[in-house]
Amino acid sequence: MSELLLFPKQAGPPRDTRVRDDTPYWKFPDQGPAERNRDPLLLALVSAAPVVRIFEAFGGLGFITRILTERFPEASIDSFDLDPECCRRYNALGLARAYCHQGDALEGLKGQDWPSGDWGASLDYNKFTILDLDRSEGKWKRELLFAVAERRPAWVQLTDSAVCHLSLNWSRYGLADKTLPLYLEQLVVRLGRPWKLQAYAARRTHCYTLLTCC
Ligand SMILES: C[S@@+](CC[C@H](N)C(=O)[O-])C[C@H]1O[C@@H](n2cnc3c(N)ncnc32)[C@H](O)[C@@H]1O
Repeated sequence: MSELLLFPKQAGPPRDTRVRDDTPYWKFPDQGPAERNRDPLLLALVSAAPVVRIFEAFGGLGFITRILTERFPEASIDSFDLDPECCRRYNALGLARAYCHQGDALEGLKGQDWPSGDWGASLDYNKFTILDLDRSEGKWKRELLFAVAERRPAWVQLTDSAVCHLSLNWSRYGLADKTLPLYLEQLVVRLGRPWKLQAYAARRTHCYTLLTCC
């Protein structure tokens, strides 16, 4: 049975309208929202099995990484990000067991061995929604998800940033109402077998889902 954890809404600072879809992640003026999402991410990871390695797609500025190292201090983390400035800032954090390689995450996954079972994957897509499982612009996201599943990790942490739009988009997602549990149920149905929802925790703009796929 899934462990369902839900955080109440919190007021955040107004969205900075200078941030556009093509703004490099490191130029985001306010990292405050990332900090507020620390607790839900940790909670989503509570029931994740211990692992010795973690594949991290989209290292960015290492916010997720710091939580992963807090939760799994023994694990070594190979992260990938296309943006050289993100990689530079990530590696400058000096996290002992985490390194961000510059390059495409799927290529990075394919370029290393991931022995079945004792590794986890964290996929912190900039934007991810259930609609990505159908539409053409989501193709690369699906390919990465299924390439991860083929290699049989113990768990996958998938960040879904669609929750803030759920009240507007629920009917487009094919849902009978706008509740998050229903949305996640639909997400797992759409992912298909062998994906299962193990836990999730959400706050305002982000939902952290812990999935198993083996
Ligand atoms: C939401 S941010 C990641 C935030 C990061 N996890 C953190 O905690 O700071 C998304 C990142 O994905 C990177 N990115 C986008 N497409 C990518 C790809 N195909 N392969 C690797 N990195 C990619 C962007 O450069 C951006 O830094």
